[in-house]
Amino acid sequence: MELARPSKKTNSVGVQVEDTQICVVMVGLPARGKSLIAQKAQRYLRWLSIDAKVFNVGNYRRHDTPQPTAEFFDTTNVEGERMRRLAAEAAVKDMVAWFKKGGLIGILDATNSSKERRRWIKDAMDAHGIETLYVESKCDDEDLIMSNIREVKTTSPDYVGQDPEEAAKDFRNRIRNYEKVYETIDDEESDLTYLKIMDVGKQVIINRIQDYLQSRVVYYLMNLHIRPRSIWLSRHGESMYNLGGQIGGDADLSERGHEYARRLPELVRKSVGDDRPLTVWTSTLKRTIQTARFLPEHYNQLQWKALDELDSGVCDGMTYAEIKEAYPEDFAARDDDKYNYRYRGGESYRDVVIRLEPIIMELERSEDILIVTHQAVLRCIYAYFMKKDQRESPWLNVPLHTLIKLTPRAYGTLEEFTSSGISAVSTWRGKGSVAKHEEPLSQGNSLGSAGDGGS
Ligand code: ADP
Ligand code: F6P
Ligand code: PEP
Repeated sequence: MELARPSKKTNSVGVQVEDTQICVVMVGLPARGKSLIAQKAQRYLRWLSIDAKVFNVGNYRRHDTPQPTAEFFDTTNVEGERMRRLAAEAAVKDMVAWFKKGGLIGILDATNSSKERRRWIKDAMDAHGIETLYVESKCDDEDLIMSNIREVKTTSPDYVGQDPEEAAKDFRNRIRNYEKVYETIDDEESDLTYLKIMDVGKQVIINRIQDYLQSRVVYYLMNLHIRPRSIWLSRHGESMYNLGGQIGGDADLSERGHEYARRLPELVRKSVGDDRPLTVWTSTLKRTIQTARFLPEHYNQLQWKALDELDSGVCDGMTYAEIKEAYPEDFAARDDDKYNYRYRGGESYRDVVIRLEPIIMELERSEDILIVTHQAVLRCIYAYFMKKDQRESPWLNVPLHTLIKLTPRAYGTLEEFTSSGISAVSTWRGKGSVAKHEEPLSQGNSLGSAGDGGS
């Protein structure tokens, strides 16, 4: 008899994974952060090149019932029940079709609040060899729920054109209808694989987590929090290598770079405020450490090797013109696919993203952080928060001597830019160019991929 062996494949992150496909099933009453968690998981996984997609049952339901009142969600409402069932079936059908085309992690974003519904989904996935991972968010803090409703529900498409107070009241009644039939995941479902997040992470229960991909998703979700905070990003001050158009290395700051280092504490104080504790992360290279050295001593400082600049291998220390001269094919290949191009003996943007994963995980767990790092690394971190895709992120124009503030919100991240006013060379390079200090074509108040970079 031949034993069936699980086939192994190397996914696009370069990690060996079993050929698993996972349906992540969100569970919980409305306004418990399910959609937010689903969207964040999708963003994180895509950043890691893991094919993930959210299927939101509310969107399917809106197709036929765009603006239901609370009564629609009363389980004694036969027509309402029928429509909701149809919406769930349509979402599951599309998800299975997506898995058949090779999708890895599908996220079913709905309340899935009864045991019967959860069993139905498991059976549907089992039939196609797809694993199910239930993620329940349980929270009974009435004040938090009301503030969630005001923050995200009154602006939902379900209430377009309606008075926000009336919308909030109706949504509260919608939740009351769900509460009548809601069954939390309990011992009767001990055969299920699940993560149960209680009171926004104060307590978590994990059950039957089986393989690498599942544990990776679970670990990420366990680290999420919703306390307000910001992340500040800065490149190091202008370096001697920047002046000469050389890449890589471990150069000192230039005169203007030192001036930026002296100005940074004031820029940070103005943006962060006096009393907020801040943790500062730098790379292990001299130019970021020098840039952070005048920041107040009461800020904790930590050096991360993972924040070092993209390793340019044999090209370290060269200018772009020298690289084009010595390695013309490599130069063209990099322009052709900058995200995936790996320098001989060095790294690609894809490699940098993989080594930044622990940084992202730590950022999700943390409060206010200032990161002083390098052009390529900053692009990768920015891409995670701002959902920039792989074709665009390596070409982003990140000016020197500028403080960037990112503030994650329920849907999207706010960004603010503060220029120090201290001039510096531009290290941005457009596709095809070897100019030492090319001026980007445009620079708005967001990190655009100036020029024709994002093709
Ligand atoms: P749902 O999809 O459950 O109806 P949403 O994702 O639309 O809820 O709600 C988003 C709101 O929930 C945001 O205000 C966010 O701060 C909050 N939130 C995020 N995570 C949680 C959680 N684990 N428990 C309760 N609220 C949360
Ligand atoms: O020029 C500064 C620098 O940080 C180099 O050390 C690094 O190789 C480069 O930017 C990364 O930018 P790009 O990927 O656009 O070459
Ligand atoms: C919805 O219709 O908005 C929804 C999430 O549906 P259900 O609770 O039926 O999954």
